[in-house]
Amino acid sequence: MRRLFLLFTIISFTLFNCNKKPEIGLITDKAMVVSAREEASKIGVEILKKGGNAFDAMAATELALAVAYPYAGNIGGGGFMVYRKNNGEIGALDYREKAPLAATKDMYLDSLGNVIKGKSTIGAMAVGVPGTVAGVFETHKRFGTLPMEEIIQPVINLALKGVIVTQKQQERLEKHAPNFRKANLETILLDNNWKKGDTIKYNALAATLTRIKEHGRDEFYKGETAKVLAEFIQNNGGIITVEDLAKYEAKWRTPVIFNYDDLKIISMAPPSSGGVCLAEIMNAIEPYDLDKYGHNSLKSIQVITEAERRAYADRSHFLGDPDFVEIPLNTLISKEYATSNMNNFSFEKPTSSSTISHGNVSFSESNETTHYSIVDQFGNAVSVTTTINGAYGSKLYCPELGFFLNNEMDDFSSKPGTPNMFGLIGAEANKIEPQKRMLSSMTPTIVEKDGKLFMVVGTPGGSTIITSVLQTILNVHEYNMGMQEAVNQPRFHHQWLPDNIKMEPKGFSKEVKGQLKVLGYVLDETNSPVIGKVDAILVLPDGKLEGGADHRGDDTAVGF
Ligand code: DON
Repeated sequence: MRRLFLLFTIISFTLFNCNKKPEIGLITDKAMVVSAREEASKIGVEILKKGGNAFDAMAATELALAVAYPYAGNIGGGGFMVYRKNNGEIGALDYREKAPLAATKDMYLDSLGNVIKGKSTIGAMAVGVPGTVAGVFETHKRFGTLPMEEIIQPVINLALKGVIVTQKQQERLEKHAPNFRKANLETILLDNNWKKGDTIKYNALAATLTRIKEHGRDEFYKGETAKVLAEFIQNNGGIITVEDLAKYEAKWRTPVIFNYDDLKIISMAPPSSGGVCLAEIMNAIEPYDLDKYGHNSLKSIQVITEAERRAYADRSHFLGDPDFVEIPLNTLISKEYATSNMNNFSFEKPTSSSTISHGNVSFSESNETTHYSIVDQFGNAVSVTTTINGAYGSKLYCPELGFFLNNEMDDFSSKPGTPNMFGLIGAEANKIEPQKRMLSSMTPTIVEKDGKLFMVVGTPGGSTIITSVLQTILNVHEYNMGMQEAVNQPRFHHQWLPDNIKMEPKGFSKEVKGQLKVLGYVLDETNSPVIGKVDAILVLPDGKLEGGADHRGDDTAVGF
């Protein structure tokens, strides 16, 4: 009888899953914005409808996220943009935070040389010089078409009208309230016991944005806002000065470009490790028949894991701010290098991370985050990942200016060999130096197929960003999924150290997990950190756009 029942359960489960149609995301004819909050996506689309382009919409969406999604959206942090114009021109903007002038290599160590817990993550000492306002204005200066006032006004209106608390936001606020108190401050997010359905008005932020609208970029870096900000940070024990703010510049970078089968991948260059690691992993897995092995099958997971292990070992050794360290970029992203790295891989057993170090490269060359994707009605595409690092950054909230400050300094290697909050281990290349940008994993990416725009993709998730972007591209390209379906799939992650495979709980078959364990892989199914919240856009064969908005958050696609 029990056997019969088991058989019945298996048959109904199989039938149920066979009949379950994959979810299709929002489909639009011309244009789309996919971001972490509907309010921000709507403001981006409103700008497009007014005739603005993807770069105008970038400015609007970035600032709207600072209002609607203070968990990660920001003007107190930084980010990266990768773009592809409708004429095929590509580029990237780096508006990553920088170490203040008074920063030193050992600033987070005690007299015995040990890392002081919390110093690089909570409060004023954790803050890097913010780049977001510079990034928005630099983008607009080079490519924008609508007046900046017209772009900022809807964001100010949103801040004044207020934003409705979602269930997920309520949960995040409850979780992080004790840390806000640790940073010892007032924030409007603590004022009330905010619950789902409440409206939070951001009046101080509206006033700051109004000054920025009136006086432009320099208001933040040299004006009244700069003075208030520097004084606030110093009063709270930090070291950022008005000089640090005045010296900040966003930088145009050449993106990392490589091919995978018939795809051309365009991703972020250092100081992000995103593009380099994505290239290393994709080059390493390209010779294997992933589509034949099957999605999230034993062999696919093995190949991807082993490629990730090797790429993250290199990340740790070679990568840092290219203005400070020499990076053997062309070698790292070459097919030959990837092939030689995979030479000792076998399906019989895992390679132990203790036997892997960075590859041999001769230096012979010349030399809590959020992502949004935009395609405009002219065919321009923008892929942006922006962050204040941890959830609500350093938890340091400036009541007068109305925003949280980042804790991006933790992305530096405080001490070689000691992991940061994402378990990432850094070395000399990512040591703290004044004016240097800390190494990032953010991977805003654009994919071309047959010379045409194919996909815009990216995600938050700390060290898991690179591997989430990878799996989303593979889900579409190798496993023939649509955009939303690709985003929905359970994800896994390996980052060299710790030597385990992080897997989304309940996402993988017992059989595959069992086989991996038998081979000697260590699995970690704890739910923290979440493996990404991917927001992506796919150009369908008929030219329409399909959005993939991650249900792991409140992410929403809007378009026309
Ligand atoms: O730049 C980086 O790699 C990190 N600061 C990103 C942080 C992040 O994704 C947090 N979100 N979960």
